[in-house]
Amino acid sequence: MSTARVPFVCGNWKLHHGVAATRAQITELVAGLGALGGAVDVAVAPVATCLSVAVDAAQGRLPIAAQNVHFAEKGAFTGEWSVAHLAELGVRYVIVGHSERRAMFGDDDAAVAKKTRAALDGGLLPIACVGETLAEREGGATKAVVGKQVEAILAVVKPDEAVRLTLAYEPVWAIGTGKNATPEQAQDVHAFIRGLLHKHLGEKAAVVRVQYGGSVKPDNAAQLMAQPDVDGALVGGASLEAKSLLAIAAACRR
Ligand code: PGA
Repeated sequence: MSTARVPFVCGNWKLHHGVAATRAQITELVAGLGALGGAVDVAVAPVATCLSVAVDAAQGRLPIAAQNVHFAEKGAFTGEWSVAHLAELGVRYVIVGHSERRAMFGDDDAAVAKKTRAALDGGLLPIACVGETLAEREGGATKAVVGKQVEAILAVVKPDEAVRLTLAYEPVWAIGTGKNATPEQAQDVHAFIRGLLHKHLGEKAAVVRVQYGGSVKPDNAAQLMAQPDVDGALVGGASLEAKSLLAIAAACRR
């Protein structure tokens, strides 16, 4: 991990904690953050209906992320919410293009690019996700697939906006499977992504953090984070308990 970039760990609570659990976990997280000494940035992404409670419980000490957003400002989009709605709640980050959204809800590269652009336009910080499936990896297409996903995102980001962008490399075969990428596999793709960042954003690319995601746990985080181009983690299952997320964050410190 580059010493120039403060590592960033975000918990993705997916469709789990409701209001009471969100409040309890955030209170526990806030209490534990001090021990990290500010050496790592931490955020959590609760269920959409719990975002307001989350912002309230965090008391400005833990940034809150949304798991998704619509790219339109307003309109006839039943069941959706906009960047402005999230910003109004005090939400700071928004995850876009998570592989579950790509696989189950039709979020293609064009939609992910529009969501990234909408987030930047509306003052939120996008965490844009990319990653290959097992079949794509086994077919030798990892870099072609990830490259296409990353290029679609970077096509809508200006160099001056680099500081507001986070990317997350999440191999689909590693998500929720207990089978994390090896540190070498992660570093190989992260170095490739960093090359693309430089190609599109020039020297400003140096500030963009690229998280690894996919079965990150307290006992494998340190090895993954020791890789020079891995700048933190997007954590699903292991983020549901505050203690576990804090242990991962502690392992990500430089
Ligand atoms: P996991 O999920 O940590 O449970 O594998 C990661 C993610 O989907 O962001």
